[in-house]
Amino acid sequence: MTKTREAIVLDKQRMDPVLYRDAMSRYAGHVQLVTTALGNERRGVTITAACSVSDNPATILICLNNNNAKNEIFFKSGIFALNALGAHHQALADAFSGKTNLTTDERFATGKFDTLVTGAPVLADALAAFDCRVIEIKRASTHNIIFGEVVAVHFDETKPALLYMNRDYHTL
Ligand SMILES: Cc1cc2nc3c(=O)[nH]c(=O)nc-3n(C[C@H](O)[C@H](O)[C@H](O)COP(=O)(O)O)c2cc1C
Repeated sequence: MTKTREAIVLDKQRMDPVLYRDAMSRYAGHVQLVTTALGNERRGVTITAACSVSDNPATILICLNNNNAKNEIFFKSGIFALNALGAHHQALADAFSGKTNLTTDERFATGKFDTLVTGAPVLADALAAFDCRVIEIKRASTHNIIFGEVVAVHFDETKPALLYMNRDYHTL
């Protein structure tokens, strides 16, 4: 059973996912809402896995679970908006994480949404919103990394940010 022996060796070398998640729980992340639209459909997902890639051309990346069939719209639409959430957006973050079991329309009713250039829903009172066209999608095991070129931004006066750390919300 060489195959089994090989598999056991590989399993031993692979980081235990629970241990990895425990370590990651110490990592503070800005809570963000990523949104998209395609035809009459729209979707938003609460995420922390997003960051800036470059300022020229302005580029950001987001990581979305590809095991969730409802995320397919993000891989097809060619557009997304990344909305950085503030301390006052905790209910909205819960709504778009599925925690409160709301329908899509009910989730979007927890905030006020506009559009900028691409047509992706932009949260009107986001700390900052980045309207993007998808330039590349890279599959990375359970998640797809979506790179977007920023075509419009919207931001207002500085307000406290909503963070996620130690498996709970915090504000900064
Ligand atoms: C604080 C926080 C951060 C999250 N970060 C991500 C993320 O970076 N990528 C991701 O795919 N899902 C992330 N999720 C999970 C999604 O929000 C959740 O799976 C999804 O919204 C479920 O939606 P559904 O009920 O419509 O399937 C995060 C959830 C929370 C509460």
